[in-house]
Amino acid sequence: MDKLRIVGGHRLSGRVEVSGAKNASLPAMAASLLTDQPLLLDNVPAVWDSSTMRRLLTELGAQVTNDAPHRMEIAVPSVRSFEAPYELVKTMRASVLVLGPLLARHGRARVSLPGGCAIGARPIDLHLKALEKLGATVHIEHGFVDVSTEGLHGAEIYFDNVTVTGTENVLMAACLARGETLLANCAQEPEIVDLAKLLARMGARIEGAGTRTIRIAGVERLQGAEHRVIPDRIEAGTFLVAGAMVGGEIEVAHCQPDHLTALLEKLTEMGVDHQAGDGRVRVEAGARLRAANFRTLPYPGFPTDMQAQLMTLLTQAEGTSLVGETIFENRFMHVAELNRMGAHIRLDGRTAVVKGRTPLSGARVMATDLRASACLVLAGLVAQGQTLVDRVYHLDRGYERIEEKLARLGAEIERLKQ
Ligand code: UD1
Repeated sequence: MDKLRIVGGHRLSGRVEVSGAKNASLPAMAASLLTDQPLLLDNVPAVWDSSTMRRLLTELGAQVTNDAPHRMEIAVPSVRSFEAPYELVKTMRASVLVLGPLLARHGRARVSLPGGCAIGARPIDLHLKALEKLGATVHIEHGFVDVSTEGLHGAEIYFDNVTVTGTENVLMAACLARGETLLANCAQEPEIVDLAKLLARMGARIEGAGTRTIRIAGVERLQGAEHRVIPDRIEAGTFLVAGAMVGGEIEVAHCQPDHLTALLEKLTEMGVDHQAGDGRVRVEAGARLRAANFRTLPYPGFPTDMQAQLMTLLTQAEGTSLVGETIFENRFMHVAELNRMGAHIRLDGRTAVVKGRTPLSGARVMATDLRASACLVLAGLVAQGQTLVDRVYHLDRGYERIEEKLARLGAEIERLKQ
């Protein structure tokens, strides 16, 4: 397994370009199952999760080609298999995104149940409940969920809890259902809006994506389309935090600042100088950082996928900060590793109490999930001495060449291949 070796204390400066959003690419790729015509997707990040989705779609019968980096043509003239196997779902929970499209176009899907993961139980009960309302029959057996239908019909669906991939799955299924569907208490993430734009280009009739209520008028068939995936707001946020921690001045380019509002507000509160412009944000370190409190919430609230990274910055701020995690019940696995590097963070249920400012010192650390890995890289950038981050495959799932991008900004960081 590869490791990252980081020697902390180097100032970062310059410009870094953000890749396409992993969490927008995965549903966009799954949407290819809704039509027999090709989808041409641009700005797809070269990360492991995109490769896993590609493998899954290929198993289901897709022909996938790349005519240029980050461009992918996906065509599914006919479906060869209805099954998302355990091996793929266990490495990427978002494999569950094939459920809605397979069911809608082919009347059947069999997907290995994702089970728990490092950050919590993460069931898919809300996806299944909503698909049942659209006319699906659901059977769970041998660790698989088997969903079938004689034909989906529109329905009124209320999500008990805000779910991102749940909203996406049901939105995709409803596009090909007979009649009107009303989805209430939907996720409002930019990735949902991006998916709805793609579906509209494919001929779907959708209103309200990006609000709590989405209306879909089902159509008989969808066609091929071209689509450029939005920038990754979590990758952009991770670089902004890096800049706030050890800049210099850095410019985060190819991003969409209006998707970063909750983070930028917190950076302002902490005393970090930044200016947002057209497709870019400049951040300047130097000021004394102040403590700040935040809690994770569904969009437009503070993203759980940035919690670990901002917590790392808070270890460098004067005073005590409170961090509440309301989305996932076990998303504080990074705390013990940050404390091993010298942070003073105490857990009190679903709240972390961060006492700053503490100097960090380099150590051998191990990540348990994607965003926790990113926070350990950030800690390594500010720590004194050498940090070795183990299990880099977590990072590779969602960050495209993060070590190369950070090295170009002046970080001393290298990948140790094993
Ligand atoms: C998506 C993102 C992930 C992000 C998360 C929250 C993708 C591919 N992944 O994950 O990066 O961290 O949103 O912003 O887009 N829940 C249920 N039952 C369900 C579905 C969800 O109880 O059927 C719960 C989950 O356990 C969790 C909460 O709802 O506590 C939110 O989860 P959800 O929004 O579904 O996360 P994902 O879509 O899996």
